[in-house]
Order: sequence, then structure tokens, then C-alpha cells
Amino acid sequence: MGPTICCCVILIFMINISGTSSSSMIVIGHRGASGYLPEHTLPAKALAYGQGADYLEQDVVLSKDNVPIVIHDIHLDEISNVASKYPARYRSDGRYYAIDFTLAEIKTLRASERFNHQTGKPIYPNRFPFNQSTFHLVTFEEELEFIAGLNKANIDNNREVGIYVEIKEPSFHKNESRSNFSEIVIDILRKHNYTKRADKVFLQCFDLEELQRIRVQLKSDLKLVGLLSDENHRSIYNKNDFSYWTSEIGIEDMSTFVDGIGPHYSDLYEQGTTLKPSKLFNDARKHNLFIHPYTFRSDANLQPFATFDVMLEFYIDKLKVDGLFTDHPDKVVRYIEFKHKQSNTGIKLQSFSLVLIISSIAVISL
Ligand SMILES: *[C@@H]1O[C@H](CO)[C@@H](O)[C@H](O)[C@H]1NC(C)=O
Ligand SMILES: *[C@@H]1O[C@H](CO)[C@@H](O)[C@H](O)[C@H]1NC(C)=O
Ligand SMILES: *[C@@H]1O[C@H](CO)[C@@H](O)[C@H](O)[C@H]1NC(C)=O
Ligand SMILES: *[C@@H]1O[C@H](CO)[C@@H](O)[C@H](O)[C@H]1NC(C)=O
Repeated sequence: MGPTICCCVILIFMINISGTSSSSMIVIGHRGASGYLPEHTLPAKALAYGQGADYLEQDVVLSKDNVPIVIHDIHLDEISNVASKYPARYRSDGRYYAIDFTLAEIKTLRASERFNHQTGKPIYPNRFPFNQSTFHLVTFEEELEFIAGLNKANIDNNREVGIYVEIKEPSFHKNESRSNFSEIVIDILRKHNYTKRADKVFLQCFDLEELQRIRVQLKSDLKLVGLLSDENHRSIYNKNDFSYWTSEIGIEDMSTFVDGIGPHYSDLYEQGTTLKPSKLFNDARKHNLFIHPYTFRSDANLQPFATFDVMLEFYIDKLKVDGLFTDHPDKVVRYIEFKHKQSNTGIKLQSFSLVLIISSIAVISL
């Protein structure tokens, strides 16, 4: 009797361990599954959803009639046919600005894979081809309804995908007499029941001062994410001092109004032969900020990582970041599932040996 009971207890224990492990790291579909379909189109969002992303990203910019639309830049001319459709509507710098077009006009445009507005050449030549199929820009609300619809239809699949909203260039909007841009976005979030930290929403911005205003003046309880840049990649409109915000004192200051940071992945390791966590990484951990690095693209230059999986291993298994932005959600999800299967098998084998050892002891003691 003795050994049988003992084995049963251990078997149950073994089953429990292998059934409960699940990664808490979140996979964020960067502009959707933008590695496969034109960024920020509904098909790109649907694909990321189907590939298993936990959150879908929305970058938000205002139209001339103050409708938030989902687009990465304040310019329309690198992801649409605006220059051929409205040839005269550029500013003195030659660029076409979303804020100079009404929603009705924006709806007449065809969206496409990203290209260089000067050369017309695609940024990622191996991605979705130009001039095939038809894609459109959508409003922020249209996208929220789309995701809510997918969540409703997938309730039996236990899928509730969240949203990851970026307020783009608040200083540019302010200069265009839209100083209440953030209020407009937060109002729409509220209308769609995204109001508090527990809700499946993150609000990110490269303008740390604006995030501070959102927390302190607007009293928002949303999870706020401070996006970090270096001086070479900062936008011309953003006057934030990133050398301050990435210093320890800046991180400590930021931790009073944000919940996490979104740094470029290369700012999380020390430059050198062995990959060690950077001071920024350690400072963020010290001040209890979650870390969501951008942007993981399997078709980009991966230096210093040999392969995409080696890169994922460093961030997911070594640094244990809390989430990451990716153009290829399927590849990240596959990596996580593969690792899990491996570690579950590890646990099973260990438990199995334990069962054998204990049974032998039991048999011997009989
Ligand atoms: C796509 O079609 C437009 C209009 O027909 C044309 O001007 C453009 O060169 C085409 N682009 C590519 C990459 O084929
Ligand atoms: C702000 O707007 C004015 C005119 O409305 C424009 O001349 C100026 O270049 C803008 N500044 C920036 C930084 O865009
Ligand atoms: C933003 O400002 C505009 C113009 O002043 C106003 O019509 C609108 O109601 C404001 N929206 C919010 C959400 O504060
Ligand atoms: C928000 O929540 C309220 C109360 O639960 C519900 O009646 C309403 O339909 C929800 N709105 C949306 C857009 O989901």
C-alpha cells in the first residue's frame, strides 16, 4: 500500500507542474504583423491576432478634422499614394502631413508597404509587394471596434488581446493648435472602457513630459510607458532631454509617473564581447519599471546576435524582459512555445526519475 500511495502523490504533483507553466512575457504586434502585411492596416492586425500576439500596437495622429487615425508618422507620404492622389497638398518641406487632410480625404488613399518618399524604394524589399491587393488607413475607433470584435469572437479560445497605444508627437500637435491631443485619445479610450491600470491597455509616448502631464494633470490611471530614444534617433519635434531621462536620476524621476519603459533593444546590453545587462536595464529594474524593448524584426540586421532565436534567447531567457515589440509575432510566439515544451519535458523527466527513485526506495523498504 505504502509505495502505491507515494507514487500517486508524485504523479499528481508531476502533472500539476507540467500543466501550469505559462510565460508572463507579452508579445506586442508592432504595427500589427507588419513583417507580413502593410503596417497599421486591419489585415496586419488580424494576422498578428491570429499569430498569437498578446497586444496590438496603435500609433495615433490627428486628421485635419481632429479624428485620431492609426498611422506611424505625422506624414502620409511613406505609406500611401497621397502624393499621386493630392499632388499639390505638400508643405514647404515637400512633405504631406496627415493633419492637413480630413478623414474623408484620408479614406480615399490606398495604404501600402512603407517606402522612402524620395526614392520610392521599399524599406523592406522582401516584405509584401507594392500595388497588390487594397489596403486602407483606419481611425483609432475603427481599430478598437475591430479588436473588440475579434475578442468577442474568440472568447471560447480564451483570447483577450490588449491594445498598446502611442500618442505620436504631442509637441507637433501642440504647434498645430491641438494641445488637447492626449485628452482626445484618452476620451476615446474611456468610451471603449479602457480607463485603469487593470485594463488591457498600455499608453506609450516618447514625450516624457507629456506622460507626466497625463498622469499628474489629467489624472489618468492607465499603465504608462516611457519610450526612450537616443540623440541620433530622436524626432525633431521632441525636445525631451534623453540623456537625463536615461540616467539613473531620470529613471527614478520617471518611475513616479510611468509603470514601465520602452527602450531600443540595443540600450539594454553593455557594448562588448559578452552581453551583459546595461546600467539602464539595472536602473529600470531597481525602480520597479517593466521593460518592453523595441523592435524585434527577423529580417533586419541582427548584429551582434547570430540569429533571431539567439537574440530572443538573450532578451527572453537571460534578461527576462517583460514584453517585446515585434514585426514577426509568429516567430516570437513559436520561440516561447518551443522553450516551454523543452522546460516542461525537463520537469516531466525529472519528476519521472523522482518517481522511479522513490518507488525503488519504497520497493527496497518493503
Ligand atoms: C505602383 O503603382 C503606381 C500607380 O500605378 C506607380 O506609379 C508606381 O510606380 C507603382 N509602384 C511600384 C513599386 O510598382
Ligand atoms: C510651428 O508652426 C508654425 C506655423 O504654424 C511653423 O511656421 C513652425 O515651423 C512650426 N514649428 C515646428 C517646430 O514645426
Ligand atoms: C479639444 O479642443 C477642441 C478645440 O478647442 C474642442 O472642440 C474639443 O472638445 C477638445 N476635446 C477634448 C477631448 O478636450
Ligand atoms: C463599457 O462597459 C459598459 C458597462 O459594463 C457597457 O455597458 C458598454 O457596452 C461597454 N462599452 C464598450 C464600448 O464596450
